[in-house]
Amino acid sequence: MNLPTRVKLVDVGPRDGLQNEKQPVPAAVKIELVQRLQDAGLREIEVTSFVSPRWVPQMADNAEVMAGIRRQPGVRYSVLVPNMKGWESAVLAKPDEIVVFGAASELFSQKNINCSIAESIARFAPLVAAARAANVQVRGAISCAVGCPYEGEVAPERVELVARLMKQIGVQRVDVADTIGVGTPLKVQRAMEAALRHYGLDDISGHFHDTYGQALANTYAALALGVWNFQSSVAGLGGCPYAKGATGNVATEDVVYMLHGMGIETGIDLDRLVDAGRYISDFLQRKPNSRAATAILNKRA
Ligand code: HMG
Ligand code: MG
Repeated sequence: MNLPTRVKLVDVGPRDGLQNEKQPVPAAVKIELVQRLQDAGLREIEVTSFVSPRWVPQMADNAEVMAGIRRQPGVRYSVLVPNMKGWESAVLAKPDEIVVFGAASELFSQKNINCSIAESIARFAPLVAAARAANVQVRGAISCAVGCPYEGEVAPERVELVARLMKQIGVQRVDVADTIGVGTPLKVQRAMEAALRHYGLDDISGHFHDTYGQALANTYAALALGVWNFQSSVAGLGGCPYAKGATGNVATEDVVYMLHGMGIETGIDLDRLVDAGRYISDFLQRKPNSRAATAILNKRA
């Protein structure tokens, strides 16, 4: 097995986590969450998305949040952008990276961004070019890489196709995303291997929602292939508004606990991360959706 010695985590809590919250979360709370994540050692944070406020009202304060964060050198702040209209607003907010988000399933593409896979690639192409010309990094998310809420199981060939199309238009790295958390380790490895046909190990990340409790096992399966970039969400926040019933991403606290226990470096201070998770969970008036955070908080009490 080719386990990495170091892992880089992107905390997507402020974006993937909060986008699904029904109650309003003020920009000041989102800004404070970003601050606490960087103070805990996160070096990549997905802050917000420049999508239609009619589709995702919780992200309507995107510009305010981006203007309010206190940027720290060495931290990469990313934002989701679905089209040129989103890019025109996003560029003013000076992100380090934009994320275009496509899908390996036709029906999910339609429900999430209102166009087919082919149309999505045609929409992304000019904005990828604009971002690259402006020296902004470009990541691509491949949703429903193992399963879709509308189509069921998704074949690795679908992931291979979207990875190929993203590569052709200049997307620099890709997230293999189990949007609804139905994947199990071997299926996740097949999806990863499909994306690895077009991207190197340094340019692939795992993005696992934890609906069926498989996300840590899936993370381990990806690590075994040598994948060392992952997305996770502090306190296990979140879900996608266009994937009903799907829960949040794997909790960052759980991933960090597992990695540190395996001697894999993350640069993250688990105690401070638990505090960041408690901060947002207190605001949302619920307990962190993380077993490691719960155990650490119980031990402290
Ligand atoms: P559309 O309705 O087809 O867009 O939506 P349109 O181009 O026809 O425009 C309709 C209206 O929206 C117009 O306004 C546009 O100006 C406006 P009107 O003239 O009617 O007043 N508009 C915008 N406004 C602000 N920002 C924009 C924008 N674009 C158009 N960027 C669109 C298409 C893509 C905009 C819409 O479907 C959308 O916003 N979808 C976003 C859905 C979303 O955010 N989903 C969650 C994120 S993805 C995710 O969570 C998965 C991930 O975590 C990985 C995984 O787990 O799988 C990444
Ligand atoms: Mg997601």
